[in-house]
Amino acid sequence: MRYPTDLDAWKRLTHHYRDEIRHRELKYMFARDKSRAKDFSLKAGDLVFDFSKNHVNRKTRALFAKLADQTQVQSAIEAMFTGEQINATEGRSVLHTALRATRRDRVGKGVDGVSDVHGVLDKIEAFVADVHKAAVRGSTSKPFSDIVNIGIGGSDLGPVMASRALRTYWRDGMRFHSVSNVDGTQLADLKKELDPETTLFIVCSKTFTTLETMTNAKQARTWIVRTLGKKAVINHFVAASTNHEAMDAFGIHPDYRFGFWDWVGGRYSLWSAVGLSLALVIGTDNFRQLLAGARKMDRHFRTAKADQNMPILMAMISTWYNNFFGAESQAVLPYDNRLDRFPAYLQQMQMESSGKRVRMDGKPVTIETGMVIWGEAGNNAQHSFYQLLHQGTRLVPIDFLLPAKSSGATQTQQDLAIANCLAQSEALMDGFSGPRVESHRVHPGNRPSSTILFESLTPSVLGQLIAAYEHKVFVEGVIWGIDSFDQWGVELGKKVASSLEAVVPGKEKYTGSNPSSAELLKTVRRLRK
Ligand code: F6P
Repeated sequence: MRYPTDLDAWKRLTHHYRDEIRHRELKYMFARDKSRAKDFSLKAGDLVFDFSKNHVNRKTRALFAKLADQTQVQSAIEAMFTGEQINATEGRSVLHTALRATRRDRVGKGVDGVSDVHGVLDKIEAFVADVHKAAVRGSTSKPFSDIVNIGIGGSDLGPVMASRALRTYWRDGMRFHSVSNVDGTQLADLKKELDPETTLFIVCSKTFTTLETMTNAKQARTWIVRTLGKKAVINHFVAASTNHEAMDAFGIHPDYRFGFWDWVGGRYSLWSAVGLSLALVIGTDNFRQLLAGARKMDRHFRTAKADQNMPILMAMISTWYNNFFGAESQAVLPYDNRLDRFPAYLQQMQMESSGKRVRMDGKPVTIETGMVIWGEAGNNAQHSFYQLLHQGTRLVPIDFLLPAKSSGATQTQQDLAIANCLAQSEALMDGFSGPRVESHRVHPGNRPSSTILFESLTPSVLGQLIAAYEHKVFVEGVIWGIDSFDQWGVELGKKVASSLEAVVPGKEKYTGSNPSSAELLKTVRRLRK
């Protein structure tokens, strides 16, 4: 395997950065190139990707295309879509794109389970319809009104983020809730507000062994047994998992088990049965629109030339700031409050995928990999951390996400959001200074951002947005030569936690070797006396 730094395109980008870009002002680039605003913007599906306010000129763009060519991005894309086992450390295909493909699409053909995708989707559709027309009800015959998703990581963040984003599409009388954290407070609070008779729990877990999820699911089951009796469990629990025996052992009725496959990574599972809770609140038609949106982006990604390919360009721009400018983090700032959990969703997608220190061949990487991803919605963020973005010492490249139309409030208020979003990217780029301006008022400017603009936050647009970021992360991984689809880094912590489970309540002695932990455990016990 070649290191990206050995490639001719990388070397040329290094020189280009040092000699032509590093000291060049964005304002100067616009002044020199009158059609820059238009030419450094493209349309992919229903998304307009404006990357003109980035430290990129026509030559950079050509070198990005070269780098894509020399890192063989195109054949990597085909390997993913056709179902090659590109998740090497787990020996798995990576086929979340098959979950949104039509029956005729050539995605993962022949891979075990792919031909069952539409069967599961149809089963979801039938179940959702039954819940909506109250053909499926609670144990006391009351229709369901409250859907509680129990899961964590990809089995939580996707449904939570998307249900908030698509609040406009919630069916009358249906409400979404979620329980994920292990401390139990979410369920404790929900129990006070929910009526068990009208509550349906969806237990989502790819493995169906995850500590947090199984602990919460058991607590929820205890609540149902205590309030409605043992027999009610069958009516009030459904599950999405690849582990059919464990669903059975938990007491999930065979008709209420929704399967998926090992080639669906947790952080890519929203498109699978993990999306069931979402489908229940927004309806299957809207859920199918979400899938269709993602497919639109898949097609763009698979067919557009590198130079015109939104996810490839997003990946190149990130790599540019990360590996050449030395940026450590990237902010994602949506100007629609309904996208408030989108940054958190992207954190798992990007940091679990790209937080890697060795390559596919086991050798250490020699350059930085995944950046820290963070963000917050719109003006809330402005009144919180934009100070650092405008006048801090660090370079933080930004993605602004901007709907032209409101997703459920008055357009006048969305107009204010748009004005603020555009003002921020302009101020970040243009800055503010002058001979008489006191130093603390100077905004140095020249700070880069991209803007992803769309008409409004529909299920299809959300699908396109998510898929664009999924593919961006994939391309970055191809450039670095890492496995973007495993997550071994979460295992050690889980193991240590399980060794401490009986120690914390004092049932067992601490036998570990970490003096700080030993002392902290003593303090915990003292505080609990
Ligand atoms: O610990 C990380 C992780 O494995 C994620 O990748 C995954 O989304 C999450 O745990 C939940 O896993 P599961 O769906 O198997 O409960």
